[in-house]
Amino acid sequence: MTHKSIKIIRTIKELREAVTSWRKEGQTIGLIPTMGALHHGHLSLVKEIKQHTSRTIASIFVNKKQFGPNEDFDLYPRTEEEDIKKLQSAGCDLLYAPSMDEIYPTDFSSTVSVAKLTEGLCAADREHFFDGITTVVTKLLLQALPDAAIFGEKDYQQLAVIKHLVKDLDIPTKIIGAKLIRDKDGLASSSRNRYLSTGERVTAIKLHKILNKIVQKCEEEDSPDLDQILINAKQELLSEGFDDVKYLEIRDAETLETITKIDHPARVITAAVVGKTRLLDNMAIIPHKGLVNKRST
Ligand code: PAF
Repeated sequence: MTHKSIKIIRTIKELREAVTSWRKEGQTIGLIPTMGALHHGHLSLVKEIKQHTSRTIASIFVNKKQFGPNEDFDLYPRTEEEDIKKLQSAGCDLLYAPSMDEIYPTDFSSTVSVAKLTEGLCAADREHFFDGITTVVTKLLLQALPDAAIFGEKDYQQLAVIKHLVKDLDIPTKIIGAKLIRDKDGLASSSRNRYLSTGERVTAIKLHKILNKIVQKCEEEDSPDLDQILINAKQELLSEGFDDVKYLEIRDAETLETITKIDHPARVITAAVVGKTRLLDNMAIIPHKGLVNKRST
């Protein structure tokens, strides 16, 4: 199928003009915020949001504020030409690729911050990470004012934080969570997978296998000892060649609170390091039928 050319814009003014003219035609707008280096996971987001809105905008902005001083901001892959081709063939209508100055002019001095859900997990060793994300996502949502915006479940905590942010700040955008997409070998699709050497990738694919085992144990055992299961799994990851396990936890799937038994839908969530690459993954844990407690809140 051939698609009409994707329009590329770089300023907030052009973005607002495009959105206003679509609104006049009665179109609905869907936003796919990304940092580029697009892979099939991103393209599945384009496909999915097209089922909700009649026009789609992908944004590409490598958001400096969510990288720590020793992280890979400078090295983060920037592949705009390839990204444009991919978005075009996925049928995306518009690419918004603002410059650093457009998003953060020199006198920029505001931060959007969400409490509680941003404690622990991905924030444990990355102090400003979520403030960087919530600030840029708020800006992108206010700039485009889309009817819907879509985020992948690979960044499970990010998705929960953004849902909460939109509710707290009364931003009139529906946040859609899209299921985690895996590469053929089972590794969760990520722009950072391209950093992995062949040998590192062999190690990396063990992550989803070990998570699967955790899920099986939690779902099959009558009263699984979650702490012990996680200690054993962490040990297994290290002995399989992972260089570090930043966190490996089982949390309530909705509130992200730490739990000691599986009586609500739960999520095993991890960030583990192979070589210099930090890999995220997570899986759903479904409680035994007999154990399901009705949530009182
Ligand atoms: O998930 C990402 O790619 C980024 O965190 C996001 C949501 C585009 C904000 O920079």
